[in-house]
Amino acid sequence: MVLQQMGAWVGEELPRLNTAILRDELPVDALREALRDEVMPGLPAPDRFTPAEARRMLVHLGFIGASVGRHYQERTPGGKQTPGVAFEGLVAGGDEIPFRAYFAAMADRTGTGHDHRDSYASLVRWNVGTIEVRLGEDLLAVLPGEFNDGRIRTYTGTGGEERFFALVKKGEAIELAVNDLLEPLTAPGTRFDSEDAVSRVRTAAVLLQALRQLFLDFAALPPEQSMPAEHFMDVFRQFAVHWTPGDIPPSGALDPEALKRDFLLGVAIDDYDRHVRRLFPGLLSDERAALEALMARPTLPQQMAASLGVDLAALPDAGPAEVRRLLSRQPVLADWYALLAAHARAAGAHLMVSKKFLFKPQQRRDAEGVGDRLLVSNRSGTTGMTETFLERLTRARREHVLAPLRRGVSAETANTTIAGGVRSRTGRAAPVEVLPVS
Ligand code: HEM
Repeated sequence: MVLQQMGAWVGEELPRLNTAILRDELPVDALREALRDEVMPGLPAPDRFTPAEARRMLVHLGFIGASVGRHYQERTPGGKQTPGVAFEGLVAGGDEIPFRAYFAAMADRTGTGHDHRDSYASLVRWNVGTIEVRLGEDLLAVLPGEFNDGRIRTYTGTGGEERFFALVKKGEAIELAVNDLLEPLTAPGTRFDSEDAVSRVRTAAVLLQALRQLFLDFAALPPEQSMPAEHFMDVFRQFAVHWTPGDIPPSGALDPEALKRDFLLGVAIDDYDRHVRRLFPGLLSDERAALEALMARPTLPQQMAASLGVDLAALPDAGPAEVRRLLSRQPVLADWYALLAAHARAAGAHLMVSKKFLFKPQQRRDAEGVGDRLLVSNRSGTTGMTETFLERLTRARREHVLAPLRRGVSAETANTTIAGGVRSRTGRAAPVEVLPVS
């Protein structure tokens, strides 16, 4: 009952109040007053919820916390330095548990090691309904959501926010399918030249092409069918405020399947482990554990090369004839090359959307003297990644360990390897589909 009431309130009342406050049609305190009158007193103690219910509650509470935090910080001089003040006087239930403590207890109740603030998991994965990834008639991955109501909760009730959350979850679902195919290859004794291993690598490459296409299609839509950049910068991103100084706000950078893929395939960035560990508070316990395990292992291209007797260190000096000889001796190298190239191209497409929706419009604002938002800067991502850093990451993925094979594998061969390589179980060439479960 409480969950239903919360669902209705967060689904309708919260976006209405947020929009009215942002338009100056209501005073900034209208949200806190509504929460104090209509929501907080009726909240049961967190231990009254099952872990699954607690996850749904946390999605609702996350939207509430982000909204309360944003309005306070945006309208109070110096508010950014004192984020905790936003929640003062906001207490839950008969025991009057302060909002942050209530949120923390609910987060613990989910049993997932969730941070004591909103997160990628609550905003995207739990919020958006279950997504399936299919290749023809084969079901490759299912990424569950916590609601099966066909709705996506947002800050301001706009289609753009819904479409953005759905896009990110679809991306994560494709990445999950990729990782599910590749992870078994990390087992000791894998035969990298076996039919099964090659088929996994080829299917993973096809999926990464589909991920790239997802980015390209979103970017090609008219703003009213994707999300206007101004809305992304001025409305949506401004809810990703700190709840305590130094905490990790929600970001696509916390998409755990993308992080896992980087460790499976390797990325030549100094200190990449440290960079990822810095984001750990924003992840869930099983995600942190999976990443630690992958960090401790050699990458798949390293394992593949060692098992096939390929000297990766010698590749940069190999001439075209030598590369061709190597490829005819170990044809699976062309499949691995195609996979790493598809990974790099997907990263390139992501870089393009980040520029289109954020970095370029902000550069235009800077050139016009408009400047930046005071609350959440549009000159970098919410966890602090700059355009230069995203470019560096994309370059590092392009300069993968098999990149020297470029001299022997034409782009055409790589694409044919991918296009010709994937069949569903019935043997038909199959399209990738990424669909919500209705
Ligand atoms: C319009 C769509 C998108 C825009 C504008 C966008 C923008 C950004 C920005 C600005 C960053 C830096 C974040 C930070 O500092 O925390 C970032 C990072 C990241 N985003 Fe996105 N993003 C979009 C879609 C997606 C989708 C669909 C996915 C998941 C498939 C995703 C996954 C990531 C990842 C993994 C990172 C970390 C950087 C990297 O590994 O290259 N993003 N994105």
